[in-house]
Amino acid sequence: MKQMRINGGKSLTGTIKISGAKNSAVALVPAALLADGVVTIDNIPNISDIEALDEILKHLGAKTERKQEQMIIDTTNITNKAIPENLSKKLRASYYFMGALLGKYKKAYMFFPGGCSIGKRPINLHLKGFEALGAKITEEDNYYKIEAETLKGSHIYLDVASVGATINIMLAAVKASGKTIIENAAKEPEIVNVATFLNNMGAKITGAGTNKITIVGVESLNGCFTEVIPDRIEAGTYIILGALLGDNLKVTNIIPEHIEALIMKLKEMNIPLEIHSDYLIISKSNKAKSVNIKTVGYPGFPTDLQQPFTTLLTTCHGKSIVHETIYENRFQNVAYLNEMGADITIKGDKIYIKGPTKLIGKEVKATDLRAGACLILAGLIAEGQTVVTEIEHVLRGYEDIALKLSKIGAKIEIEEI
Ligand code: EPU
Repeated sequence: MKQMRINGGKSLTGTIKISGAKNSAVALVPAALLADGVVTIDNIPNISDIEALDEILKHLGAKTERKQEQMIIDTTNITNKAIPENLSKKLRASYYFMGALLGKYKKAYMFFPGGCSIGKRPINLHLKGFEALGAKITEEDNYYKIEAETLKGSHIYLDVASVGATINIMLAAVKASGKTIIENAAKEPEIVNVATFLNNMGAKITGAGTNKITIVGVESLNGCFTEVIPDRIEAGTYIILGALLGDNLKVTNIIPEHIEALIMKLKEMNIPLEIHSDYLIISKSNKAKSVNIKTVGYPGFPTDLQQPFTTLLTTCHGKSIVHETIYENRFQNVAYLNEMGADITIKGDKIYIKGPTKLIGKEVKATDLRAGACLILAGLIAEGQTVVTEIEHVLRGYEDIALKLSKIGAKIEIEEI
């Protein structure tokens, strides 16, 4: 078990560099097995979710190698074995092996994925998509058998613009015969990253990044090179930190268009920030205005930044409302923020924040990845010492977080307990 000890109240300055996007990389790594050959993926973040996927690839017989930020994956000797529960439940993104194995071998056998406990998170739309392509699915005690005689292109409408279902259907459809159209597809930048990767392999995908994606099936896919886009959620988390404690804090390796919704809110709050082509500079404001946010799919305000942003709202003058529309259980951070001194009330899918409030260091628990990020930010602004327990959740998604924060002046360390 690991925990993080934070001595709060330090001003932060210098440069923080953003790593490759977790939610892209966790799809690109399983997608690699669709290629008949060697795939090189650059800018892979060093996070535990990638280690968990690497274990699954090795279980299937792939050869993988990490060279600094690169991951080289050779799937020549892979066999399509069932993925056991101890591997699938380590993370949510293990579900991408369903689409990739189905696409390549017409069969996939695995258990229900794991991941943060932030809501029900069903996979019905993934399965509905596989069925539309011709697969038969049986499920017993969380074990899924997904089998198709042949995969045939289909016209699929997603009831919810799900990131996971959009990517999984693309993975299953790239080698299906004929044309697949995904309507009401999710539009997140990570989807464009995956489609570009598959097209580099020889797939024929158009429309990624819009709500209608067209996939024309091909016979085979080749090895290729690709690069993971910068992590817009890691970037957003450190930009929010800059708004809390920054003294000309420079956040580099970002794509500003990917975090437009956050930038617009920070401007509305009168936070001083300078935006450049691939970096921004941000400083704390003592007069930040309260604002309301509503989480929606891209390009709207991302649910993954909702919890870190709540820490910022506790410092603003006035009343703010956060409306979470994606997950039913993404307010587990609130009780801990209140213990630290915040004034937040939960009512259904909304929280009401009265600010500014002074936070005091406490022992708090990272119940999930972004709740952990929220509490780290809270610890960094709090008076005194904060201990965030169960920090493993955070290490799943933030590369070298303690090191990156120490370099800009935070007093923070990870302890084994
Ligand atoms: N949904 C369904 N049925 C499905 C799939 C999704 O009802 O078959 C619902 C979900 O319950 C949720 C909504 O649709 O209410 C959106 O879920 P989505 O499928 O888009 O989420 P996901 O693919 O499981 C990814 C990220 C999440 C991020 C969401 C939304 C990965 C591995 N995870 O999840 O990341 O919150 O998209 O952007 O890419 C995180 O990084 O902290 C994280 C939770």
